[in-house]
Amino acid sequence: MISTPSNLKQLLHRDDPLEDVHYWRNRIVFLVARISLILGGVPISVSTFLSLRDGLYLNIVFDAIFLVAFVFLLFTKTAPYLLRAGVLVAILYISGTYFTAAFGPIAVGFYILFVTPIMAAVLLSKRLVHLVFAVNSLTVVFLAVVNLRGIVDWPWNFPPGMAVLFLLTFLFFSALVTYTIAEIVGGLHAVNEHLAESRVDLKAAYIEIISRLVTAVDCRDEVTGAHALRIGNYSALLAARYGFDRETTEQLYYASLMHDIGKIGIPDVILKSTHSLSEKERLLINRHTISGAAILAGSETPVLQMAERVAMCHHEKWNGSGYPRGLEGTDIPIEARIVAICDTFDVITSARRYKNRQSTSEATAIIAKGRGTDFDPELVDLFLHYEDEFLSMHDELNRIVNLSEAYTGFYQFRDRFFKEIANLKPICSGTD
Ligand SMILES: [Fe+2]
Ligand SMILES: [Fe+2]
Repeated sequence: MISTPSNLKQLLHRDDPLEDVHYWRNRIVFLVARISLILGGVPISVSTFLSLRDGLYLNIVFDAIFLVAFVFLLFTKTAPYLLRAGVLVAILYISGTYFTAAFGPIAVGFYILFVTPIMAAVLLSKRLVHLVFAVNSLTVVFLAVVNLRGIVDWPWNFPPGMAVLFLLTFLFFSALVTYTIAEIVGGLHAVNEHLAESRVDLKAAYIEIISRLVTAVDCRDEVTGAHALRIGNYSALLAARYGFDRETTEQLYYASLMHDIGKIGIPDVILKSTHSLSEKERLLINRHTISGAAILAGSETPVLQMAERVAMCHHEKWNGSGYPRGLEGTDIPIEARIVAICDTFDVITSARRYKNRQSTSEATAIIAKGRGTDFDPELVDLFLHYEDEFLSMHDELNRIVNLSEAYTGFYQFRDRFFKEIANLKPICSGTD
């Protein structure tokens, strides 16, 4: 019997990283890099040229550092976020210090030093904000002391009393704005985390309910549980290759687990029969489509709505000779057309009470033969095009089924599988 893995929520957490705050922070880093290169590229190049002409080599070093850093921020998506955000804050700090030291408090450097801890509050953790604020403030104090002692001479100087007042005002407003923003960003982060947590809880709840439903069928017929889990994987693979987005692919994964849920209502004497079924018994078995759809009907949850379509239509045939309603062609929901091929593949390649396991090549041949009669021709072409992927998935799933921790194994397989699915390039596009 299948049991729900205790580490399900942990697995889902790995599935749903808290991307939102990171997403916006990343955007800010790219935006600043882009604006800096567009607006700063020409002045920095001119400055480099003039510095070269006048022998100001320190300027050339700074210009080169800024250019390289902005190009790095713009083109290194794979570098760790903390490194990129740290580089951005460091550029601000270095340029602010350099320009303030060179031109005094009524120049661009002073504004940059004001902005540096604010940027840290937006992009970095609170601990790093304290660090950046402390270093930045000490630098401003240091520059003011150096100036008051006459070590550096700026083009425009405050009288000493005014300088101290100006310094204290700077520190006060810098702290006020920096920590207000740090609090707001921290609050947003906490809200985001809470929402993500709730989303994981909700998803874990519906996956658990689905698991328990499949378990309920599995209690009746022990072959169906592993069959359902294999169908989930095959169907998700075919759906991804067809062009479903990741979310819809995942929905089909869970929806297809329940495709035979209606078998819960079939009497044991028929469900566990080892002899070939009479016509009356076969008709009763066929009703698992209708009773499955009835179990799942009326839901407002997309995954259950899809599961209802799959349960009702996974035995329909492309030429209209299937059951229960004899739907034809694209009148059969796409999800059910996908599951129909995967269901056939798994039934043929698995052993049942009434039949032996057949080879994968026999299964593939039967599916190819059903192109345009039993199955959607486009989906059969896809299946045959990616046959190797289905065969290796078949081997891997059978290996997992034989493990004692089969269900957890399936979830681990699913995690790896969905990571791979994100990179799949469909050769068809869209859904119908
Ligand atoms: Fe079925
Ligand atoms: Fe089935």
